Amino acid sequence: MSIPIDRKLFEKRLKESSINSLATASIREIKKLADTLEKDTGEKFIRMEMGIPGLPPLKEGVDAQIEALKKGVAAIYPDIQGVPELKNEISRFVKLFLDIDVKPEHCVPTVGSMMGAFVVFMTINRMWADREGTLFIDPGFPVQKQQCKVLGHDYMSFDVYNYRGKKLEAKLREFLDTGKVSSILYSNPNNPTWITFTEEELEIIGKLANEYDVIVIEDLAYFGMDFRKDYSKPGEPPYQPTVAKYTDNYVLLISSSKFFSYAGERIAIIVVSDGVWDRREEGLLRYYTSDRVGDALIFGAVYSLSSGTSHSAQYALAAMLKAANDGKVNFVEYVKPYGEKAKVMKKLFTKYGFKIVYDKDLDQPIADGFYFTLSYPGMDADKLLEELLLHGISAISLVITGSERKEGIRACTSLIQMEDMPVLEERLKIFAKNNPV
Ligand SMILES: Cc1ncc(COP(=O)(O)O)c(C=O)c1O
Repeated sequence: MSIPIDRKLFEKRLKESSINSLATASIREIKKLADTLEKDTGEKFIRMEMGIPGLPPLKEGVDAQIEALKKGVAAIYPDIQGVPELKNEISRFVKLFLDIDVKPEHCVPTVGSMMGAFVVFMTINRMWADREGTLFIDPGFPVQKQQCKVLGHDYMSFDVYNYRGKKLEAKLREFLDTGKVSSILYSNPNNPTWITFTEEELEIIGKLANEYDVIVIEDLAYFGMDFRKDYSKPGEPPYQPTVAKYTDNYVLLISSSKFFSYAGERIAIIVVSDGVWDRREEGLLRYYTSDRVGDALIFGAVYSLSSGTSHSAQYALAAMLKAANDGKVNFVEYVKPYGEKAKVMKKLFTKYGFKIVYDKDLDQPIADGFYFTLSYPGMDADKLLEELLLHGISAISLVITGSERKEGIRACTSLIQMEDMPVLEERLKIFAKNNPV
């Protein structure tokens, strides 16, 4: 079958799926629909919907994990707070790559940052009985709001695009003045827009976190991946920017999925500042036996969710971090192909009439990285996703990310390979012909 694929077949499969509207479909729902259409048509789709790493996992991790399994760790429950080797390496890692000091005790492995965020919501958002939950600086990773909903937490959010730089302060105050915010969450670099906060913006967030006594949850899923700067040298500036420079009220989520390509083993780290870890808040006693944040987090949240994290994967992550800390692996160099692919993809999409939606990072063009955003004249996100799918290209809508740009979609650069670019171009050419502006 050729491109575009048969519209009747597409409509049949869409109807059979769990999707009401493509614009509000989740990443996993779009993935399933694209899988089905691929099977039906025999056409390999250009997959841009899901952030699956397109690179092999770091060898250091795989070797250490096999070694740990051979030693028999699979039979043994890991300590719930994480194995000491891993806790020590993450403490070294944040010193060497963020230039911050956190005790190993306060670095806790989780089953991916998915679990990390869940644990943090369960703990931080329960510190104060009179507050409602998280303020999301959007656009963001949709499933984190789903986690809040599942927990019965309220949340607030706003699209940051028009509130960059100094304007961020007044906007944040609008929400913080309600007295209902317990935490502020954002990812940096940002999924889905790839905007990155400046030191000035992080300083504003940190300053307000101190003033209003809220906890910042900084999601560093794309650690070091703003390729405009070289964050790859351990112990040497420039360091990956972090709010931790400006407040002690922070928790960091560091996923191994993207920067170590270790998504399959589901392992990440929560880094809790020494100050937050030792805080005592009465609100926690509604759910946990201890009013100390660190104890509630470990013996309340982590215990009840999974009782710790895969034993062998902890040794894998410890080994990868050690290699990075010792300067033996340049993890930033390793993931640079994402930026190179983004550059080519953006050129192709804009050549065929698409626009980059979040096109500026303050006064600079948006950097090339793991994601970028797109729109097409005269189409809303629903129509655009449909037309792209018909042309063998899958992506997700920005509607589900908290973006105000309802016409936008997110493209992920990870799965497409450089050798697929001619296929992408061919499909975009047909797309543009079938959808004249
Ligand atoms: C911003 C953000 N946070 C968290 C995650 C989840 O990470 P993990 O694979 O460690 O669960 C992702 C994955 O795409 C992400 O983009």
